Amino acid sequence: MRILSGMRPTGKLHIGHLSVLQNWVRLQAENKCFFFVADWHALTTAYDETRELRQNVREIVADWLAVGVDPERSTIFVQSHILEHAELHLLFSMFTPLSWLERVPTYKDQVRQLGEQGKDVRTYGFLGYPLLQAADILIYRADAVPVGEDQLPHIELCREIARRFNHLYDAVFPEPQALLAETAFVPGIDGRKMSKSYGNVISLDVGPEELGRLVRLMITDPARIHKTDPGHPEVCTVYAYHTIYSPTAVPEVEARCRGGKIGCVACKALLSEALEQMLAPIRAKRAEIMARPGYVEEVIAAGDARAREEARATMALVREAMRI
Ligand code: TRP
Repeated sequence: MRILSGMRPTGKLHIGHLSVLQNWVRLQAENKCFFFVADWHALTTAYDETRELRQNVREIVADWLAVGVDPERSTIFVQSHILEHAELHLLFSMFTPLSWLERVPTYKDQVRQLGEQGKDVRTYGFLGYPLLQAADILIYRADAVPVGEDQLPHIELCREIARRFNHLYDAVFPEPQALLAETAFVPGIDGRKMSKSYGNVISLDVGPEELGRLVRLMITDPARIHKTDPGHPEVCTVYAYHTIYSPTAVPEVEARCRGGKIGCVACKALLSEALEQMLAPIRAKRAEIMARPGYVEEVIAAGDARAREEARATMALVREAMRI
């Protein structure tokens, strides 16, 4: 299968992104994969915060490589380097009813929510965002798109665009399907959703001391004052992490917590160790990548060249079909 997915460059990735990336790594073993940095998409909301955009693109690609996305197997590229995405987006815009974009379920909510946060996204670009996403996908004639559940309406729109194009002109595009992987919900260290804006993230490249400090800050069962008090794992962030990162230890941790046989400090030390084992190789590989001058840029340039070739081939078919 031809598989495509993208991420916005919003800064360094955190461990909440890990299962998504591990899924990419699995997919690349048996499929033709395209993974790209959606920097134009970042502009649909953060159009006035571009100072760190280039650095963020570099950091996110380093994160992908550190987790094992392999530039020999997968085509890793940057959206804004492949101008053909913009051309296809423009052509799609000619036959896309406004109502299709206005009825994307997240659209009105997000305009309101971001508006409340002081960001005006009543823009042409923000409304057209799912159409740009359709162009990103269809220009590689992808069969499948690994995404989170929040993106399902966008994939549905993409399928409608493919159908409409094929009906109006010629059968150029397959109708891509969404690939929903099981991804663990990783809470932030305060138990809320992990998000940079909450300051509760564990980034992928966190060092061992900082990791220990973040784990010690995690919120545990507030009803537990003394070590011998019986704990309630279901309300404890540390326990939630154990179920994700050290599942084999869970039965024992749970029994000892409920029985007041292990204190939160010791429980956190166990978790730190499990996280450190998982993150140490990623951190080492990331450091190696960042230490090689020009390496990330080389990976991107090679991926861009492959992506561009594919995008150009599709655009030749599109222009032919549309008689342009
Ligand atoms: N919209 C996606 C997000 O915000 C990023 C994205 C842009 C994407 N184009 C894509 C994902 C194409 C999959 C396929 O997460």
